[in-house]
Amino acid sequence: MYIAPTLNPIKDEKEKYIRIFDTTLRDGEQMPGVSLKPSQKLEIALALEELGVDSIEAGFPITSLGEFEAIKMIAREVSSSEVIALARSVKDDIDRVIDSDADAIHLFIATSDIHMKYKLKLSPQQVIERAVTSVEYARTHGLIVEFSAEDATRSNPEFLAQVFQAVVNAGASRIDIADTVGVAYPSLMARLVNYIKNNVKGDYIISVHCHDDFGMAVANSIAGIEAGASQVHATILGVGERAGNAALEEVTAAIKFILGYNTRVRFENINRVAQLVAEKYSLVIPPNKAIVGHNAFSHESGIHVHGILSHPLTYEPIDPSIVGAERRIVIGKHSGRHAIIFILKQLGYEPSNDIVDFVLRKVKELADQGIKIDYRTIEDIIREVAGDK
Ligand code: KIV
Ligand code: ZN
Repeated sequence: MYIAPTLNPIKDEKEKYIRIFDTTLRDGEQMPGVSLKPSQKLEIALALEELGVDSIEAGFPITSLGEFEAIKMIAREVSSSEVIALARSVKDDIDRVIDSDADAIHLFIATSDIHMKYKLKLSPQQVIERAVTSVEYARTHGLIVEFSAEDATRSNPEFLAQVFQAVVNAGASRIDIADTVGVAYPSLMARLVNYIKNNVKGDYIISVHCHDDFGMAVANSIAGIEAGASQVHATILGVGERAGNAALEEVTAAIKFILGYNTRVRFENINRVAQLVAEKYSLVIPPNKAIVGHNAFSHESGIHVHGILSHPLTYEPIDPSIVGAERRIVIGKHSGRHAIIFILKQLGYEPSNDIVDFVLRKVKELADQGIKIDYRTIEDIIREVAGDK
């Protein structure tokens, strides 16, 4: 097994640990058209526990009885990951989380002018008061509190720091910067994390929650971590509201294999969990999806296959087996002699120059007609050389 040398220049922080907060069963289930039965949620929660995520956000218990029961069941069955449930900063929501027996509560309130004015119809001072009262109430019931500032990336940073300071003083141990409509970009997220780190005192960790409206959820999460966040929210396959959330398989792999930081994720399970979520959410995993797509470790072009066969590090950042995947050498229009020799040997044929030339020519002819080439096609071509056809 191999991993490309890490590209992170901050070597002295190599032992840094990043908490993984999975929200596949909450923000992920908010994906339009998705609704899971409690038994399906439990099956996914158990797979996430085995994957090694630190927190499983099991749902939003106030939304329905089934949701409440699913969270209760997950809280009963899951033991090695924290089970957390979502609540707005209102008493009824918090009571529902308390009754669900979750270990922790994910409290949120919006902090941007847009949300405070048009949605909450509350003044900034009222927002702070609600946030503090809610955190205190949850803490008196023994819950670990994570507090999210909804729409944080469109909030006034000074006000955001004020809200975070108030909830940390009230007992929140994790504060989360939510890029609710996915409008952050990496340098903005880094500056915001830095600003909060420098302006909020106390014992807490910073988390980031990034949406993918402009395709930057993973990049923004990584920028947040580089700037000092030590937790990331993510969902398997990036499922979630609208364009979804940061994809857990991508962000965790980047944390481990690019930044060189630690997580508890057992990467060998990641492909299996992605398949399970795809099945339950009725999704087809795009072949070019990073880490878990069918093509993530497939090679066709002659130059790449030559490199891979000389040493896989040339064109693979990590050994596919690390993430429970397999390398595939694909034959097509872009193939070269090395790939044909490799396939012929695999099929048990002696790759003489004449046969390799013939097969390669035939492969390109067929590919130019739009025909997909697989091992059976190669065997047919070989029978043709041998005059069987
Ligand atoms: O995107 C968001 O703002 C959320 C909050 C509940 C944290 O999902
Ligand atoms: Zn969200």
